[in-house]
Amino acid sequence: MTGGQAARSGRFLLVLAVLLSQAACSGPQSALDPAGEEAAQIATLFRLMLYGGGLIWLFVAGSLIYASWPNRKAHDERSAGRFIFWAGAVFPSVTLLLLLAYALWLMPGLRPFAQEGAPALRVEVTGRQFWWEVIYYPRDAPPILSANEIRLPVGERVELTLKSGDVIHSFWIPALAGKMDMIPGRTNRLSLRATATGVFRGPCAEYCGTSHALMALVAVVMEPREFDNWLAGQARPSPGAGAEGFDLFRDNGCGACHRIAGTVASGMIGPDLSHIGSRRSIGAGILPNSPAALAEFIATPHLAKPGQQMPAFDMLGRDELAGLAGYLAGLQ
Ligand code: CUA
Repeated sequence: MTGGQAARSGRFLLVLAVLLSQAACSGPQSALDPAGEEAAQIATLFRLMLYGGGLIWLFVAGSLIYASWPNRKAHDERSAGRFIFWAGAVFPSVTLLLLLAYALWLMPGLRPFAQEGAPALRVEVTGRQFWWEVIYYPRDAPPILSANEIRLPVGERVELTLKSGDVIHSFWIPALAGKMDMIPGRTNRLSLRATATGVFRGPCAEYCGTSHALMALVAVVMEPREFDNWLAGQARPSPGAGAEGFDLFRDNGCGACHRIAGTVASGMIGPDLSHIGSRRSIGAGILPNSPAALAEFIATPHLAKPGQQMPAFDMLGRDELAGLAGYLAGLQ
């Protein structure tokens, strides 16, 4: 390879690296592509930290190159001491202090409970191995149970009450707000205001067992009116009470662990399935919500999600599995 070719491929690799790093900054799970007030503050803080740290690094690297330059004229001791004082002590201290001051100033803004009064909506999310229990507490209506997906109205402040049913999990929807742990025996609170509609993703951010990496939460931010209609739909009894397929669900004992509002199925060990057909995914964000995926999950849940508690139902025939899956898909 000639010198010119080497330089060209070097430039190409550099451009490719920059493009790839930029591509990683957007998407439904990016803290650098914020769609919430709190996430925007955190993204700004990150960028300032990056620029501040980069500035210090440039200074240090520049000094290093300067110091190792051959045939450089020697400095006298006084000017060398002055350089070390200003460039080595004052400059990094001031830069880091300014960043710290900004971070401390930001902190009260990330905990906006006291100054805003009661939020329009409170949502309780409980981390479990390996799924999320979700309960909506509208201001003037009874609680509504759901699982593995949260929906929020855009532009409105929502308070999230975070709990754990077993081990430590961590709630984090990077595009909407910062991260907060879910700790057994403790209730943590997180307040957020989404600023854009869309579908976002949050991974469980604390190792919680074998299927930790298969525990994700879908967050759907909607227009307030659309959200109110959706919530009203969730508050109604599940359409599954008299539907075809319910006897399969009941006779196989599914109701011991899963609840379907308005039926005798009232188990609370596994996710609420009252309106599972309307969710975007199943298995806590790991499989598409389709009858085929539902049947597969029911038959062999340990393959889709190792270490979780649901027993396998692979003794059921193909027709029975299809019937169950079809019934669940119909629970809109
Ligand atoms: Cu739940 Cu990690």
